[in-house]
Amino acid sequence: MSHLLVRLTLILVFSCKITSGVKLPPNVSVPAVFAFGDSIMDTGNNNNNTLTFARCNFKPYGNDFPGKIPTGRFSNGKVPSDLFAEELGVKDYLPAYLDPKLQPSELPTGVNFASGGAGYDQLTSKLASVISVSAQLDMFKEYIGKLKGVVGEDRTNFILANSIFFVVLGSNDISNTYFFSHVRQAQYNISAYTDLILRSASDFFKELYKVGARRVGVFSVPPVGCVPFQRTMAGGAERKCVQEYNNAVMLFNEKLSKEINSLNQNLPNSRVVYLDVYNPFLDIVLNYQNYGYKVGDRGCCGTGKIEAGLLCSHIRTCPNVLDFVFWDSFHPTESVYKKLVPLILQRYINQFT
Ligand SMILES: *[C@@H]1O[C@H](CO)[C@@H](O)[C@H](O)[C@H]1NC(C)=O
Ligand SMILES: *[C@@H]1O[C@H](CO)[C@@H](O)[C@H](O)[C@H]1NC(C)=O
Ligand SMILES: *[C@@H]1O[C@H](CO)[C@@H](O)[C@H](O)[C@H]1NC(C)=O
Repeated sequence: MSHLLVRLTLILVFSCKITSGVKLPPNVSVPAVFAFGDSIMDTGNNNNNTLTFARCNFKPYGNDFPGKIPTGRFSNGKVPSDLFAEELGVKDYLPAYLDPKLQPSELPTGVNFASGGAGYDQLTSKLASVISVSAQLDMFKEYIGKLKGVVGEDRTNFILANSIFFVVLGSNDISNTYFFSHVRQAQYNISAYTDLILRSASDFFKELYKVGARRVGVFSVPPVGCVPFQRTMAGGAERKCVQEYNNAVMLFNEKLSKEINSLNQNLPNSRVVYLDVYNPFLDIVLNYQNYGYKVGDRGCCGTGKIEAGLLCSHIRTCPNVLDFVFWDSFHPTESVYKKLVPLILQRYINQFT
């Protein structure tokens, strides 16, 4: 009798998990979620780094996070790394690996290695004084050792092979390192520069495979020419989307998608999946009214035209964040992330199996 009750409870708990998020194919389990990348994913890895401007562990960031806590997430609430973990029924938040309060009990369900300001290009991360992709990989290797200590070797291998690793990088390379600061423009035209970051991206995916990752979701680069900051700096008097930047992004995304296809053919049992976020996000930015927003070209913090990070601190924010596509001049609101993440998972989840 009590045995039956336990089973019934388990079934109920299990089905609740499924209905709260994306529907996984019947024979697929995702024990953990991991994130690598930049400020779209970071949940606080830069908090103790006093050298970088890519930090936001102060108000008004986190204004809509439980307890209004500025955790270091570059938005008003949750970011995609959290939402993927939540939608996949793994856990509600994806903790930063460098969080000094990180508990060993968090390790088996995944942690976050992303660092705001990072790029595929090592120079991007170096210029921003943040955690480069190779340093993110080193943290991951250190993590694997700790995980073995917690759950043992066999379970560790199972977790690595079955979890989903999300990678979001490239925006800072193209918008900051190439176009805004011009540091790479003297040596490279955009065709050669996108080749350079593609090589670095591909090496990174191969390294992830070498240490045991099999299901890897790689985001396309979003339309960086449409973020409020770039519109202000390079979009002319009307603050239009900067087409030259978006063209560069599209060029890179095309190369990235081809490279991922070829990696899947060369790495046995790997399921590296190209996740198109460029098109769904561009549609939200351009047709924001269709999604219930009132403002698509300014952020909620300050004037919305240039503020991000420290420039957002001690400044008024918009009265209703739900009217806005952007939280600051670079980063979307939680509300936008909550639209994009389920959309992407529903579209691509079957490709991870
Ligand atoms: C899941 O089931 C499908 C269909 O039976 C099969 O093709 C696929 O290989 C299975 N996947 C796993 C991870 O076992
Ligand atoms: C971050 O800084 C706080 C306060 O200075 C300190 O207590 C904590 O140990 C630091 N954490 C890391 C990971 O360095
Ligand atoms: C870009 O640079 C490469 C090598 O540096 C060169 O071969 C190519 O012709 C250049 N492309 C354009 C469009 O200028």
